[in-house]
Amino acid sequence: MKLLVTGGAGFIGSAIVRRAVSAGLSVVTVDALTYAGCLDNIASVADNPLHAFEKADIRDGAALREIFDRHRPDAVMHLAAESHVDRSIDAPAVFLETNVLGTSTLLQAARAYWERTGKPQTFRFLHVSTDEVYGELGASGKFTEVAATAPSSPYAASKAASDHVVGAWHRTYGLPIGIARCCNTFGPHQFPEKLIPVVVRTALDHSSIPLYGDGENVREWLYVEDTADALLTVLRKGIDGRIYNVGGGHKISNRALVEAICGLLDILRPAGAPYAGQIAFVTDRPGHDFRYALDPTRIRTELEWSPTWPFAMALERTVQWYLENEAWWHARMENGAHKPAT
Ligand SMILES: NC(=O)c1ccc[n+]([C@@H]2O[C@H](COP(=O)([O-])OP(=O)(O)OC[C@H]3O[C@@H](n4cnc5c(N)ncnc54)[C@H](O)[C@@H]3O)[C@@H](O)[C@H]2O)c1
Repeated sequence: MKLLVTGGAGFIGSAIVRRAVSAGLSVVTVDALTYAGCLDNIASVADNPLHAFEKADIRDGAALREIFDRHRPDAVMHLAAESHVDRSIDAPAVFLETNVLGTSTLLQAARAYWERTGKPQTFRFLHVSTDEVYGELGASGKFTEVAATAPSSPYAASKAASDHVVGAWHRTYGLPIGIARCCNTFGPHQFPEKLIPVVVRTALDHSSIPLYGDGENVREWLYVEDTADALLTVLRKGIDGRIYNVGGGHKISNRALVEAICGLLDILRPAGAPYAGQIAFVTDRPGHDFRYALDPTRIRTELEWSPTWPFAMALERTVQWYLENEAWWHARMENGAHKPAT
């Protein structure tokens, strides 16, 4: 089986690429290498004959057509996106251009290729989306896949729009698709503008560790190896046309998470005073959703998938990775201005 992975030089995409290649699959990584993507993330497969890299923008239909015809993939895993909520608030246009128009350009290229190759029903276009498309929850409840989309941020709106575009290509043209809505993912190789690496970076810098509002917003977290495994499972076993929540992760407030990271740093890189003393509450993000939580029943029962990484172990592993890979995140920081938190 040959996979075409868009955004494969980014955080989750690179975990999928590494995992798929080590499982013996052929993979073509398609990535524009924006500020968020880098070849270091897939250096471990660079010389592997099962892997090929194509630098291309998903908004470039001609380039995509040529890539589809040359590599002849059996499936697409679509992760290329602008992914940082704070950036979407400051500059929404590129989120709509990449996440909505880029997705439709990619769909057109995938559909044309699928039709040219005789419409194989085994072909699959898996679109990777987010729990943020559902909008916010109050103190209780979980979102199932039939919940209406009610996105709050420009990022979430662009992802919800792209979900609907993917659904339309299925309904109108019959393109075999799947949609996976993931909760927050964490782990090595996440761009250092996102919450966990921001905490490590600012803690080590002896500067303020920024926390939005009162820090009580709740997110659901999955380790990136679990997310990658779930997405490959949805690709392999998911029913055509279906949405799957990739949930079942650990729910925790931003404040408790930041304090947990500070506690780990106190052990792994003692500084004389507890790092939690550096936490500074900053003006809340506009439109900040209070809580997200996914109902994972469908992926658990239909696909028999559930996460395997205990949260505490995965968090420690992640913090350790950032401590051991300062050169990686310093280089990434030089490549893109960062924001205080996600
Ligand atoms: N990280 C999370 O917690 C999370 C949660 C839910 C859903 N998602 C979704 O998963 C996907 C991957 O997220 P991530 O955190 O790995 O993102 P990321 O920002 O780390 O990586 C995105 C990748 O897409 C590439 N890219 C951006 N614009 C492109 C374009 N126009 N053409 C080609 N490539 C382009 C970038 O170079 C980068 O390699 C995204 O679609 C995101 O919406 C992420």
